[in-house]
Amino acid sequence: MRATAIDRFGGPEVLSFRRIPVPEPAPDQVVVRVDSAGVGTWDIAEREGRLAKMFGIQARFPWTLGSEGAGEITAVGDRVSGLRSGDVVYGTIWSTTATTKAGFYAEYAAVDANHTWPKPSNVTTEQAGALLIDGATALRGLVDTLKLEQDEKLMVFGASGGLGHLAVQLSRRLGARVFAVASGEDGVALALRLGAEEAVDGRAGDVLGSAHRFAQYGFDAALVTVAGEASERALTTMREGGRVAYPWVNQRPPPKGPTTVRLLGYNGNIDRPLVSKLNGLVEAGAFEVHLGMTFKLDQLGDAYQAVTSHHLGRIAVLPHAESVGVR
Ligand SMILES: NC(=O)c1ccc[n+]([C@@H]2O[C@H](COP(=O)([O-])OP(=O)(O)OC[C@H]3O[C@@H](n4cnc5c(N)ncnc54)[C@H](OP(=O)(O)O)[C@@H]3O)[C@@H](O)[C@H]2O)c1
Repeated sequence: MRATAIDRFGGPEVLSFRRIPVPEPAPDQVVVRVDSAGVGTWDIAEREGRLAKMFGIQARFPWTLGSEGAGEITAVGDRVSGLRSGDVVYGTIWSTTATTKAGFYAEYAAVDANHTWPKPSNVTTEQAGALLIDGATALRGLVDTLKLEQDEKLMVFGASGGLGHLAVQLSRRLGARVFAVASGEDGVALALRLGAEEAVDGRAGDVLGSAHRFAQYGFDAALVTVAGEASERALTTMREGGRVAYPWVNQRPPPKGPTTVRLLGYNGNIDRPLVSKLNGLVEAGAFEVHLGMTFKLDQLGDAYQAVTSHHLGRIAVLPHAESVGVR
């Protein structure tokens, strides 16, 4: 099969598009024919070896990259129950210690069965490949960290990005009133289309003015996906005692908020109850995992570059899209 793998951690130069054997499932794994694999900021950390260091993983090479994806099961390990060849699932391969990583940037991936879930019925397999990490992290922030309640006024800062555009839809479904700070006119249009009640361009718009008009007495809660001055300025519009969640605790410094708000750092921690809840909310009505750009398997370097440039929603690699020859 074709895959993008590395023989050492490093910059874009370590990426190698090549042919490797289709993985065999370990007893607790399934093998998935990968239709779609999400690309996020964490993938660059994976390529550079920062994720392996963070999780204490002894790397074994070649290492096939890619931490989330979706597709049809083609083989099932001896100890797996409840999953069959032909099931369409989405899942994550976040860290692996047992074998060389057979990640999602490949035509087939070996995934622990307990890290797969049925694809929500109302999104395409292409979309599902880019739903899990940002979707579960958004939900962890909204439900477990912010404990968002019906009719509360919520600011989503970074609302046109991967996590943010999913958070806009999930928080609406949880009954919140959503104010979106998005990037660019195209980002504002996306946030409004996905259900934000009001949206402003956080790079060029009057964020404070729009925020004050929307939440005269201040926001009850905020989900912040971007560090830095712009989001910190926006947090001055929180009410006293307002809650602010940010998904990078212990990795980077917390945002600086007013002393009257509660800053709540968290990490995604994807588990079965969380993803079951995610599936339920996604399937409760129309839902869009917006794929701003898609790439072929041999264009992973371009996909990584796109992640750090202006983009809407998620970016995905489609391993079975028609591709140029193998080097
Ligand atoms: N701990 C976990 O488990 C976990 C899991 C997932 C994500 N995360 C973290 O969550 C963060 C967000 O992830 P993501 O996948 O959503 O990344 P992303 O797709 O890059 O989203 C960030 C968004 O913020 C926008 N933005 C930047 N400055 C802005 C401004 N001044 N006003 C309005 N929007 C602005 C960016 O717009 P442009 O398009 O212009 O760049 C982009 O759309 C990252 O730090 C990631 O590491 C953590």
